[in-house]
Amino acid sequence: MAGISPISTTHFLFLSFLLFSAVALAIAEDENSFARTVKRKRLGLRKEKLSHFRLYWHDVLSGKDPTSIQIVPPVSNTSMTRFGAVQMIDNPLTETPDPKSKLWGRAEGLYASASQEGSGLLMAMNFAFVSGKYNGSSITVFGRNPFLEKVREMPVIGGSGLFRFARGYAKASTVNIDFTTGDAVIEYNIYVLHY
Ligand SMILES: *[C@@H]1O[C@H](CO)[C@@H](O)[C@H](O)[C@H]1NC(C)=O
Ligand SMILES: *[C@@H]1O[C@H](CO)[C@@H](O)[C@H](O)[C@H]1NC(C)=O
Repeated sequence: MAGISPISTTHFLFLSFLLFSAVALAIAEDENSFARTVKRKRLGLRKEKLSHFRLYWHDVLSGKDPTSIQIVPPVSNTSMTRFGAVQMIDNPLTETPDPKSKLWGRAEGLYASASQEGSGLLMAMNFAFVSGKYNGSSITVFGRNPFLEKVREMPVIGGSGLFRFARGYAKASTVNIDFTTGDAVIEYNIYVLHY
């Protein structure tokens, strides 16, 4: 018979399958268009290195220019641990325990009394560098600080600038504390993996 041969059932099913596959593929591509794999080199990430920083953190509560200010009072005045108190800080980070020594950065953030019985502070700080090679970069420290212990360890959970993808830990130890004013100088030894 001349003319267009009728499409067989097999042909019809095959064509339908092709059409369906094309649509399915288009949807799948569209769903993943927001995410893709990137080569590390494209972001300038070459070799990961381990750095150690030793800085002195000055918690100044006294005087006319405090760097550490209580923003939330404790839930109860009878709490020995001042549970619930929150302190906002913009503490200098210097090269030696002397507050007049070279300023390398500032610890911006807050700490809160998170323990009802012990000395557990919750620390949430960005160590923002203001001088030298790391000026403009920052390290984020977030963790538990049982401040009565000799050495306290807190995680470094990230960073910015030269500290992108940073991870590591900080060890804090008290150099001196004035129990009448609350002023304290703390040594921070930070070990951080970064690119
Ligand atoms: C704690 O004491 C201060 C000062 O006396 C007072 O203003 C505050 O209301 C007290 N807080 C509580 C939770 O009792
Ligand atoms: C740190 O960087 C800021 C912003 O780029 C700049 O204004 C400042 O002079 C720099 N400080 C030092 C000590 O290099």
